[in-house]
Amino acid sequence: MKRRRVVLLLAVVSGIAVVTNGQTSISGYWDFQAPRIANNDGTYRETFFELKQDGESITGRIEPGGSREYPLTEGTLRNGTLHFVILVPRANAAPNRTVYEGTQTQDGHFTFAATGADGNATRGELLRVAKEAALPPRRIEPPTLHDVPDNGLARTPPMGWNSWNKFNARITDADVRGIADAMVSSGMAKVGYTYVNIDDAWEGQKRDAQGNITTNRKFPDMKALADYVHSKGLKLGIYSSPGPFTCAGYEGSYGHEEQDAKQYAAWGIDYLKYDWCGARNEYKEEEEQAVYQKMGDALQKSGRKIVYSLCQYGHVNVWQWGSKVGGNLWRTTGDINDHWASLDLISFGRQQNTTQLEIAGFARSGHFNDPDMLEIGNGGMTGDEYRLHMTVWAMLSAPLIAGNDLRSMSDETKSILLNPDVIAVDQDKAVNPVRAVAQTGAPDNSFVWVKSLSDGSVAVALLNRGEAPGQLSVSWKSLGLAGKNITARDLWTHAPVVAAGETYSTTVPKHGVVMLKVSAK
Ligand code: GLA
Repeated sequence: MKRRRVVLLLAVVSGIAVVTNGQTSISGYWDFQAPRIANNDGTYRETFFELKQDGESITGRIEPGGSREYPLTEGTLRNGTLHFVILVPRANAAPNRTVYEGTQTQDGHFTFAATGADGNATRGELLRVAKEAALPPRRIEPPTLHDVPDNGLARTPPMGWNSWNKFNARITDADVRGIADAMVSSGMAKVGYTYVNIDDAWEGQKRDAQGNITTNRKFPDMKALADYVHSKGLKLGIYSSPGPFTCAGYEGSYGHEEQDAKQYAAWGIDYLKYDWCGARNEYKEEEEQAVYQKMGDALQKSGRKIVYSLCQYGHVNVWQWGSKVGGNLWRTTGDINDHWASLDLISFGRQQNTTQLEIAGFARSGHFNDPDMLEIGNGGMTGDEYRLHMTVWAMLSAPLIAGNDLRSMSDETKSILLNPDVIAVDQDKAVNPVRAVAQTGAPDNSFVWVKSLSDGSVAVALLNRGEAPGQLSVSWKSLGLAGKNITARDLWTHAPVVAAGETYSTTVPKHGVVMLKVSAK
C-alpha cells in the first residue's frame, strides 16, 4: 500500500506515469536516441513515439503530431520485452517494414533497436519524455514577400569543394584542413577554386542555453578552422536547413535564422548551403520562397558577406525567384550520384518539369542555376563521362564545386578539374545561355550545344549520350559564322583543329564529348 502511494505521487509529479496492477504503464511519449556510431561525432538521432498500453497490447504512432506520423502495429509488451512494427507506405512497392524491439531496464527505459527489411539494426535507448519534447515545434508563419537586395557576391559561378559526395556525414576538421591544403598544393586555388564547404553533420546535438548553434566533436573549434582556411587564401562554407532538422537529422535553423547567421559571421563563414528537406514537415512547397527569404535577410544582417546557396532541388520554379530571396545559386535537380545514369538524367533529362537547357536563360551574374556538385574523381564513372560532366557544367555556367578527395587525385582527375580552357568557358563573364543547334544525320542521343563567349568566340560541345562512339558535326553556319575565316581549338586536347570548309566533323566516344572554342575573323 505504501509503495503504491509513492508510485501514485510520482505519477502526479511527472504527469506521465500511470499505474496498472502495481506496474507503471508505458503509455505516454518516448524518444528513441540512437548514437550515430558511423559518424563518430558524439551525437544521436532522435525518433519520437506515442505509446498506449492496454495489458500486453501496445498501440500508438511514430512521430506524433508530425506530417510523417504512422500507426504502429503488432505491438506487445511481454515479460519486459517491447515489440512493435512500423509500416511506411511506398508508391508502387510493398511498405517499408521496420521492427522495433527492446528490453526494459531497471530504471524503466528500454535498450532498443530498429531493424529494417535489410536486417540492419540501429541501436540505442528508448527514453520516456514529456509530451512537449515529443511533439514537433510550433509552426512559425513565414514572412510576407519582399525583394532581398543583391549581396554583390558570385559575379561568376562559385568554384570550390564540398564534403558531401565523398565524405558524407563522416567529414572532420582534419579532413577540411587537408582539403584546403590540397586545394592550394594541387593548383586548384590558382585556377579559381576558392570555397571549402562543410556539408551536413558538423552540428552539435543541442543548442546551448542561449539557443546558439553548437558544433559536434568532429569540429572542436569552427573559428579556428575558418582562420586556417582563410590563412590559405581560401573561404569556408557551412550548411543548414530552414527546418528544425537537416536532411541527415542534425539541428537545423528553424526559429534561429538571425542567431545562426550571426554565429556564422562570428566564426568567419563565407558561404551557406541551405537545404530544404528538414523543413518539409513544417512548410508547404508554395511557402519556400518566403522561408528562403528569411535566411536571405538574416545573412544580410549578419555583418559578413556570405554566399547564399539554395538547396531545394528545383521545387516551385526556384529559377524564377531564387535571386529575389538573395540567392546566389539554387539547385535545379535532385541529388547527383557517381554513376552515368545520374549524370545523364541531370544533363539531358527532365526533372521538376524542365531541362537544364530550358532554364539556362535564368542564370546571370550573381545568380546561377546549380545542377549539383561535381562527382569527378570519385571513381564511379569513366574519364569520358567525367569530361562530359565538366563540359556540361561549363556550358551551363554552373557552379564548379568539386566533390572528390582533393588529397589523392589521379593525373586524369586533375586534368579534368583543372582544365583552364574549360573553366574559362564556365567563368565567362557574359553568362550567355547555352542552346542546342539542330543536327542532321547525327546519331540518336547526341547533341551539339553552343554558348557565345564575351570575347566574341563560341564554345561548342559535341555530346554523345549513346552507347557507342558516334560521328558528330557542327556547321559554322549554325553558329552564325558562315563564310568567315574560322579558327578553332579543342579544349580537351588543347590542340588546334582543322576548321576549313563549312562543317567540322569528328568521332565522339560513348558518353563522351569533344569541346571546341571557335573564333571568326
Ligand atoms: C540533401 C542534399 C545533399 C546533401 C545532403 C546532406 O540530400 O541535396 O546535397 O547536402 O542533403 O544531408
